[in-house]
Amino acid sequence: MSLAKRRILLGVSGGIAAYKSCELVRRLRDLDADVRVVMTESATHFLSPTTFQALSGQSVRVSLWDAQAEAAMGHIELARWAERILIAPASADILARLAHGLADDLLTTLCLASAAPLYVAPAMNQQMWAHAATRANIETLRQRGVGLLGPASGDQACGDVGSGRMLEAHELRDAMAASFGDGSLAGLNVVVSAGPTYEDIDPVRFIGNRSSGRMGFAVAQAAALAGANVTLVAGPVSLPTPAGVARRIDVRSAAQMHVAVLDASALADIYIGAAAVGDYRPNYVSAHKLKKRDGAGLSLQLSENPDILTSLSAKPVHPFLVGFAAETHDVANYAQHKLRNKGLDMIAANQVGEGLGFEADDNALSVYWADGAIELPRAAKPELARQLITQIAQCYRASRAG
Ligand code: CTP
Repeated sequence: MSLAKRRILLGVSGGIAAYKSCELVRRLRDLDADVRVVMTESATHFLSPTTFQALSGQSVRVSLWDAQAEAAMGHIELARWAERILIAPASADILARLAHGLADDLLTTLCLASAAPLYVAPAMNQQMWAHAATRANIETLRQRGVGLLGPASGDQACGDVGSGRMLEAHELRDAMAASFGDGSLAGLNVVVSAGPTYEDIDPVRFIGNRSSGRMGFAVAQAAALAGANVTLVAGPVSLPTPAGVARRIDVRSAAQMHVAVLDASALADIYIGAAAVGDYRPNYVSAHKLKKRDGAGLSLQLSENPDILTSLSAKPVHPFLVGFAAETHDVANYAQHKLRNKGLDMIAANQVGEGLGFEADDNALSVYWADGAIELPRAAKPELARQLITQIAQCYRASRAG
C-alpha cells in the first residue's frame, strides 16, 4: 500500500476525536502522502495548530482571513492542490454546513472550491448521529457522492455507548489508499447483489436470514474503487450506498432480486452474487395478519425460489460469474460443489456461525476457481473485499485472454 506523493487535505473540525487525527497524519505520512491540515476554529479548542504543523511538516491553516498564509498559498490554490479532502473528525455542525453548501470558514470554502473527492469521518455523540437532522444531512451528502467513512459504534468519550465513534487512524488511512484504487476493473460493468431477502408470510411477518449486507456492500465499493461501473442490487438493509457506486436497486424478495439482477446483468461483464438469497418462499401470502390459533399449530407450504446464478449461467452469453458460499461446516467441499453445480467462474466461501460471518466486522474467505484457489486471511470486510476484487480482476482478465 502506498500513497506516495498523493496530496491529501485533512480537515479537522471540532470534536474530541481530533486527537485520533494526530495519529492519522502520522499514518498517512508513513505511506509518503503529502498532508496539509486545515482546522476549523472549534477544532483549535481541542488541539493546537502547532501539533498538526509538527506532525505534517507543513503550516496549518485555520482562517480564511490570514493574509500571510493567503499570500503563501491562496485558498483556491490549496483547493486545486488537493487530490482528496478528508474531514476527520467531521462534527454534526460541519456535516450540516457542507450539506447546505455553506462557505463560512476556510474548510467549508475549500470543500466548495475543490473538485477533489470529499470523504467525511463523522464523530459525535450517538444521539446527535441518530437525530433526524443529521440523518437528512448525511443522506444529502451521500447522494452528492461524498464518501462516508464510518462512524463505528462502541463506547464514546461522553460516556454513552452507540454509533458515532470516529473510525481508527489506520482504517481512515486504508480508506484513503483504497480511494486511489488500482484500476484493475477500469471500464467494466459490474453487478453486485448484497444483503438478505425477505419472503413475506403476511403484512407483518416474513422469512429472512442474518445477512447484514456489509460484505456485499464492501465488495461493491471495492469494485467501484477499482474503476468499475457498479450496479448494486440490495436486499432489505439499512446501509448507505458506498461512495462511487453508480446505481443502487433496492429489492425485498428473492423473486424481485432475480428480476433486478437478470435485468442489470444483461450488459454486465461481471456478476458477483454476495446476497444471501432465500431458497424458499411461502406459497401463499396472507393479505391479513395471521391470527394465533390457540394450540392448533401452523404449517407453512413453501416453494423453491429460482437460483439467480444458475439462471445466469444457463444463458448462452452471460457475465463472468462469482458466487459466495456461507457454510457452517465442510466449507471447501460445499463451495467447490456449488462452483461446478451452478456453472460459476469463481466462488468465495466462508464459515458462518459462532461470531463468524454475517454480523462480524471481519471475515476470512477461501476463493476457488476451476484451476486455482487462494486463502484470504481474516481481515476487516473492506480490506478483504479489496483483495477479493484484485483476485476477481485477475481471473476475469485470464478468462477473457484465453
Ligand atoms: N444464490 C442465488 N440464487 C438463489 C440462492 C442462492 O443466486 N436462489 C447464490 C447466492 O447469491 C450465492 C450462492 O448462490 O452467491 C450460494 O448461496 P447459498 O445460499 O450458499 O447456496 P444455495 O444454493 O442456496 O445452497 P444451500 O442453501 O443448500 O447451501
